[in-house]
Amino acid sequence: MLVRVLELVGFEGPRSLQLGERPEPRPGPGEVRVRFRNMALNHLDVFITRGLPKRPLPAILGSDGAGIVDAVGEGVDSVAVGDEVVLYPIVTCRECAACQAGQEVHCPKMAILGEHTDGTFEEQLVVPADICHPRPAHLSWEETAALPLAWLTAWRLLFTRGGLQSGDWLVLVGIGGGVATACLLLARAHGLRVIATSRDADKRQRALDLGADAALPSEAFSKAVQEVTGGLGARAVVDTVGPATFDESIRSLGREGMILTVGATSGPKLELLLPRMWFRHLALITSTMGNHREFRAMLDDVNSHQLRPPVDRVFPLSEGAAAFAHLEAGDQFGKVVLSG
Ligand SMILES: NC(=O)c1ccc[n+]([C@@H]2O[C@H](COP(=O)([O-])OP(=O)(O)OC[C@H]3O[C@@H](n4cnc5c(N)ncnc54)[C@H](OP(=O)(O)O)[C@@H]3O)[C@@H](O)[C@H]2O)c1
Repeated sequence: MLVRVLELVGFEGPRSLQLGERPEPRPGPGEVRVRFRNMALNHLDVFITRGLPKRPLPAILGSDGAGIVDAVGEGVDSVAVGDEVVLYPIVTCRECAACQAGQEVHCPKMAILGEHTDGTFEEQLVVPADICHPRPAHLSWEETAALPLAWLTAWRLLFTRGGLQSGDWLVLVGIGGGVATACLLLARAHGLRVIATSRDADKRQRALDLGADAALPSEAFSKAVQEVTGGLGARAVVDTVGPATFDESIRSLGREGMILTVGATSGPKLELLLPRMWFRHLALITSTMGNHREFRAMLDDVNSHQLRPPVDRVFPLSEGAAAFAHLEAGDQFGKVVLSG
């Protein structure tokens, strides 16, 4: 039996993706095979098509996937054939001090699905049984697939790294992104007050519809943030855009506020005026993805608050290259999803 896969065969962006076939994988001890219903794109996938970072080719990308277990290996009793699951997008060694302490993000052997191992953009994938979690029953398959990487990253950034609490003012820069929309819904569920920014008026309206208290253009927004917060400034700004917006993000903060960041879509280098930071006791806090415990906590929040990740568009696997081009163009609101 052969399964269809979306293969990366070069580093020239979405046009380096093509449909291929590989032998059906078989689960070994402790593993299960998942037949995907839906998979979702992250900006990481787009960066890899440009060689940032490079992977040995041909490669199968994709960190997000949801589907049905259709085979289990020896010794697996936590998951059974027919279970509907969503995948924690990280595989770790489980033996090092970090793994033993529940700090999987610091495991030296941490492998992100699709970046360090073959990923979810294929019909079937064999994975360790313990990264499979029951999918939230109130979500469609498309919405389920939209959760893993972006929502895990958002949960850890806001609550573990940022320690944000009900009533705090939070600014989300570039609300069209997957991490930003996850932050919006999680933050509202936890009682935070949210100001979203976007370059696009329709996306600003979508943010208000999803519960943002205010929505501003992504240029020169700091003055308006100070006004909306009654002169307090924000407790935190999530800025994953980088140099294009960072200065305004810093100016939006109140005293002892913090910039929370996990990415830099507009470029990796910043010019930072340090006095602007220390005179107001500001912090710059970074993060990457999240621990297994945080993935469970994120799923608990999604279930208990009945949250629904916004899905922008669904493409068949055979049109994977078009899905990548759509995400790269930046017109999306929420997640771009593939169907298996
Ligand atoms: N470290 C981690 O664990 C981790 C995890 C997830 C993501 N990331 C990184 O975080 C970043 C965000 O990823 P994502 O998938 O959520 O979203 P994304 O696809 O990168 O989109 C982010 C949003 O940023 C805004 N934006 C982009 N370029 C801009 C510019 N020049 N000026 C102003 N706004 C701009 C746009 O918002 P509007 O369209 O609303 O204007 C866009 O929708 C990426 O760089 C990604 O690689 C890191």
